[in-house]
Amino acid sequence: MCGIVGYIGKKEKKEILLDGLSELEYRGYDSAGFAVIENKELKNFKAVGKIENLANKTTHYLSDGFGVSIGHTRWATHGKPTELNAHPHLGQYSFVVHNGIIENYQELKTKLQATGASFVSQTDTETIVHLFEYHNNKLANPFESFKATVAELDGAYATLLITKADSETIYFAKNGSPMLIGFDDNDIYFASSDTPIIGKATQVYYLEDGEYGYAKDGEVKLFDAKGEKSFHKQALSMDKASAQKDGFRFFMEKEIYEQSRVMSETMMGRVNDDSVDFEELNSYFLNGIDNIKICACGTSYHSALASSYLFERLSKIPCVVEIASEFRYKEPLLKKNTLFITISQSGETADTLEALKMAKRAGLKSLSICNVDNSSIVRESDRAILTRAGIEKGVASTKAFATQTMVLWMLSVYFAGINKTIPSEQIKTEIDAMIHVPRALLIPDGLHEQIHRLTKRYLHGHGFFFIGRDIFFPLALEGALKLKEISYLHAEGYPAGEMKHGPIALADSGLFTVALMPRSLHYDKIKSNVEELSARDANILAISPEPFKLADDFIQTSYDSHPMLEFFEMMVITQLFALEVSVRLGNDVDMPRNLAKSVTVE
Ligand code: G6P
Repeated sequence: MCGIVGYIGKKEKKEILLDGLSELEYRGYDSAGFAVIENKELKNFKAVGKIENLANKTTHYLSDGFGVSIGHTRWATHGKPTELNAHPHLGQYSFVVHNGIIENYQELKTKLQATGASFVSQTDTETIVHLFEYHNNKLANPFESFKATVAELDGAYATLLITKADSETIYFAKNGSPMLIGFDDNDIYFASSDTPIIGKATQVYYLEDGEYGYAKDGEVKLFDAKGEKSFHKQALSMDKASAQKDGFRFFMEKEIYEQSRVMSETMMGRVNDDSVDFEELNSYFLNGIDNIKICACGTSYHSALASSYLFERLSKIPCVVEIASEFRYKEPLLKKNTLFITISQSGETADTLEALKMAKRAGLKSLSICNVDNSSIVRESDRAILTRAGIEKGVASTKAFATQTMVLWMLSVYFAGINKTIPSEQIKTEIDAMIHVPRALLIPDGLHEQIHRLTKRYLHGHGFFFIGRDIFFPLALEGALKLKEISYLHAEGYPAGEMKHGPIALADSGLFTVALMPRSLHYDKIKSNVEELSARDANILAISPEPFKLADDFIQTSYDSHPMLEFFEMMVITQLFALEVSVRLGNDVDMPRNLAKSVTVE
């Protein structure tokens, strides 16, 4: 959510900033801007919409002398996506960019307005620059002024500030939103994640909450509440992991197609002939654990929900799943015999991260399942298992969901092995099924075309229900979320058996039902539920190995004996379905309106 890039040095700054912002664009893309100070001269450019609009606006600008520069791509929190609300925000002689939310901004703004500051935007961010100048006008000391500013901010932030009052320095602060500093000889880079600086910086330092400081003359001075502190840089991979579309129309499409391959990576070295092992875990770490609590948001929450069936069924461990934003404020009872698992593709989701910090404060052992190494959630957790999906750029998550679910299934079998909760033959059956997952994720000839053709009938009507039972209920939730996110059509996921308790009142010829009807799990039960809907004239798209006479549309899947193989095969179908509806509606598949890939505000 929002992206920040900064650079001090002699290289051409516009290119570094635009390049970096493009890497972060999928995190927020309703406006963008950058500011440069070179020879004490301030330059500032902003544009509404994507980075290419900013690039078009700045074609004639070049900055190749020594200078300081900051850039930002925005996902609006306070104020509409307009140029005035785009970052960087200008005071009288300084610029600021910021990710996160300043919770006490209204109070600070009122105070600053009383001293004569005039605000032009509706953002909370603009407060930072006015507050800084308010202090600096009195102290005439930019560092002390920045320190005083940071001390007055409440909330989550990562911020960079440049000022004519000290035109060779970038001031930075981090609390609750990610920020890192990259180094290459005398050049210093800042970014809110490492992709913008890969290939540019050779070393990196990931800032911790409460740290602030400044960069000048090729050096960084770092402080926290206790004063100046030393820090250790670590090597940064030079391998540009930046995803390319590889001939696909959209990142999301490419990511759906690569699920089969990445799943083998997820399993590599972990799934053996007759056991599942994680080098990240051991029985000592799990000693004393007799229940699991999982916190996550969005798609990650759906994978958590699917896994709760597996933890109870296979590992025989009670497992409760909670949406992180709900968990945080419910005053949860946390006991030390609980393993606290967080799931996050990005590793930066603010609500999930805060839930994790709460669990740690309560003394719980923590494990994260994440796709991004060195992310805040990975660093905060006692142990982390990486999903190895590779960078996911489509805002609608696909391969991250698949690999999270896979890791959780593997984990449930790992626990089953340690606690001997199921016979070794059953463990072997699970492992045999796991090995077949890459096959279940392959997209057979003609399937994508079939889905493309049938979606033309699903562009109108008054809404969708995705229904399923057992693990296919979370898959129904995820199928509905995918469709909502990129088609902007109303879709709900529902447990099939629950439809008769209210939602069936909506059934008529304008209602679309996508029914997940696996053969290997409760087939007769879900069949009855779908028949009840069909009797009320709802349109039925049945996804099943078993031909179903009452279906208006039917997508046939394989007769797999293991429910998880059916799960993954149906997951791909729901993903392609959402993609094709979105394409037909002319939407931006990879960067759907109002969303962001990583939500670093609560
Ligand atoms: C955002 C994204 C969703 C994602 C959710 C949780 O809302 O748009 O696709 O599922 O955040 O993200 P995480 O990175 O924690 O899995």
